[in-house]
Amino acid sequence: MKSKKELIVSKIRNGTVIDHIPAGKALTVLKLLGITGREGNVVAIVMNVESRKLGKKDIVKIENRELTPKETDMIALIAPTATINIIKDFVVVEKRRVIVPKLIKGLLKCPNPTCITRAEPIESTFETISVNPLILRCIYCGGELKGEDIEMQLLTSTT
Ligand code: CTP
Ligand code: ZN
Repeated sequence: MKSKKELIVSKIRNGTVIDHIPAGKALTVLKLLGITGREGNVVAIVMNVESRKLGKKDIVKIENRELTPKETDMIALIAPTATINIIKDFVVVEKRRVIVPKLIKGLLKCPNPTCITRAEPIESTFETISVNPLILRCIYCGGELKGEDIEMQLLTSTT
């Protein structure tokens, strides 16, 4: 077993560390952020390491990248336990918990083909009715989206 002080990957100078990602979701988080590894920045992915809180967890470290509020919200939808650490000159200058938003606008498509948001140029809007398990409900038609559907949509969208 590794001692607490031992690091699997080195610390970063500037950028973002997304910690406490549920084990196995690191690659989904990278996909969501549109990070392919071809941008030239240092990206470190740590998977299935021990965590006191989670049992096992993933960590993603991205040098020279900050997250927008929209990106943070998207991470909350697939990794609600994640902590976002902003690193400046090797120091954690900000630590944010991600929060599943009460309302999710313009991010997800309603699964109901007859929903008005599918016919008119209306921004889709879902309310969070349960966080664990994650269930969102369309405010226009009541159509529901569950965890797996949400992850699938976020993974296949191209933003
Ligand atoms: N980290 C890093 N580079 C830095 C500073 C921190 O990669 N220059 C990483 C750490 O390895 C850790 C995360 O950012 O994975 C958060 O760092 P820190 O707050 O120091 O760790 P903890 O106190 O263990 O965090 P928490 O309380 O959120 O578990
Ligand atoms: Zn709908």
